[in-house]
Amino acid sequence: MAPPPAAQAVAALLLAALLALASSHAAAATGVFQVHRKFRRAAGEEGGNITAHLAHDVSRRGRLLDAVDVPLGGLGLPTDTGLYYTKIEIGTPPKPFHVQVDTGSDILWVNCITCDKCPHKSGLGIDLMLYDPKGSSSGSTVSCDQPFCAATYGGKLPGCTASLPCEYSVMYGDGSTTTGYFVSDSLQYNQVSGDGQTRYGNGSVTFGCGAQQGGDLGNTNQALDGIIGFGQSNTSMLSQLAAAGKVKKIFSHCLDTITGGGIFAIGEVVQPKMKSTPLIPNMPHYNVKLKSIDVGGTALQLPSHIFETGEKKGTIIDSGTTLTYLPELVYKEVMAKIFAKHQDMTFRSIQDFLCFQYHESVDDGFPKIIFHFENDLGLNVYPHDYFFQNGDNLYCVGFQNGGLQSKDGKDMVLLGDLVLSNKVVVYDLENQVVGWADYNCSSSMKVKDDKTGAAYTVDAHNISSGCRRQWQKFLVLLVTMVCSSLIF
Ligand SMILES: *[C@@H]1O[C@H](CO)[C@@H](O)[C@H](O)[C@H]1NC(C)=O
Ligand SMILES: *[C@@H]1O[C@H](CO)[C@@H](O)[C@H](O)[C@H]1NC(C)=O
Ligand SMILES: *[C@@H]1O[C@H](CO)[C@@H](O)[C@H](O)[C@H]1NC(C)=O
Ligand SMILES: *[C@@H]1O[C@H](CO)[C@@H](O)[C@H](O)[C@H]1NC(C)=O
Ligand SMILES: *[C@@H]1O[C@H](CO)[C@@H](O)[C@H](O)[C@H]1NC(C)=O
Repeated sequence: MAPPPAAQAVAALLLAALLALASSHAAAATGVFQVHRKFRRAAGEEGGNITAHLAHDVSRRGRLLDAVDVPLGGLGLPTDTGLYYTKIEIGTPPKPFHVQVDTGSDILWVNCITCDKCPHKSGLGIDLMLYDPKGSSSGSTVSCDQPFCAATYGGKLPGCTASLPCEYSVMYGDGSTTTGYFVSDSLQYNQVSGDGQTRYGNGSVTFGCGAQQGGDLGNTNQALDGIIGFGQSNTSMLSQLAAAGKVKKIFSHCLDTITGGGIFAIGEVVQPKMKSTPLIPNMPHYNVKLKSIDVGGTALQLPSHIFETGEKKGTIIDSGTTLTYLPELVYKEVMAKIFAKHQDMTFRSIQDFLCFQYHESVDDGFPKIIFHFENDLGLNVYPHDYFFQNGDNLYCVGFQNGGLQSKDGKDMVLLGDLVLSNKVVVYDLENQVVGWADYNCSSSMKVKDDKTGAAYTVDAHNISSGCRRQWQKFLVLLVTMVCSSLIF
């Protein structure tokens, strides 16, 4: 094991966010890991607090905005703050790490033993862990002359010698940072081996050993051990395991806003069946082509620029954001149609939300919205998805006025997890498509084992058998405790 890097010049991390997709290699295992929301939607007697959602989204939007504005090849990496987190096991003997699940960034990193400013306690009630490369018989430091380093930085770094570690530094848009060096070690996972059954599997991954964390990442309140990025880059855990022939470069989530849990799966989902729409190539996020919006069966009349795509235009699918952000024009049209039959409705403003009293079923009293995408794929959004309940008979609108703004003033549509909930959403990076289908995320789905071709049932509740599920009040938020096992 090499010594930790001197705290000196840290090479800029030049993770290309925009990557041509890796050709698919023979893939094998299939798996699922269960994730839990950090913020539960305000609902019923369980409470919740919408200010917190807004605060979260504001900081996230800050990050996204910054990400959109960051020039390619710059120091910053786009990231989510990750509403979901899960547990992974690393090293020999294996140690558990709780990491944020992030569809917007590209590397896995965990707090390291040499960490300067790492939190020692977490308000989430989990025991934090520091990764010690020396404490793992399978761990090794990645030196800057190794292929991973050259591939990450697009070539050999100046001044690189075999004895120097491959360093990384990521600065997120909200000012939080992580700095450290890359290590390789064994990652343990549970592989789906039958209906509701798993067996042990492992693979080698290269990840960041975080020596110094700044901003929110050094904060105790919501501290976790690190972040696992599910972006498209070759440096992600998923890409590495896919390149090693361990998994397919496909992942999916099913976020259950009714019970608050969810499934995050790696591998091909064979049940439910679903349609898909192409991902727009060379984008830092998961961008798709929106074609039209129906409210209550009528298409909105919107100017064509809303449906244009490009680096700072178009529509982003982002399960790391809670709410949905619509350009003002779209927002106004959508709201007018939603409330067309309720002209006499009295609204209350609660924080920045538009709220109202309603004593009947919102699904009966309000229209369904369908976002139509290329390839005839519709995203059904029901009133119980676009409204959230904030106490008895009090509902608030989950759409926000104002899209993701870019410098030239054009707004992007940002579809957050509220409208992506209660659906299986599959990101098939091998075929560059994203698809979804309405689904009961508390039931089971079927994933394919590529080795045998068999389709196995994964039950949402059984994934976590052997791990405790627990709700915890944190500040005024309801926070789900980690109860997840990584299964491939
Ligand atoms: C990513 O990996 C694939 C195969 O593993 C390779 O063909 C491709 O060139 C890599 N992309 C970059 C940008 O390094
Ligand atoms: C919601 O949270 C904010 C800050 O997180 C707090 O100031 C406010 O009092 C909370 N509201 C309720 C109703 O608990
Ligand atoms: C996986 O585990 C086996 C047995 O414990 C070990 O021999 C092998 O080196 C491990 N592979 C990786 C990639 O960690
Ligand atoms: C979802 O599935 C679970 C488990 O099968 C079941 O208990 C629940 O009633 C289902 N929910 C709905 C709305 O069908
Ligand atoms: C879920 O797990 C429990 C215990 O581990 C088992 O009894 C039950 O049959 C499983 N359910 C399914 C649908 O596999």
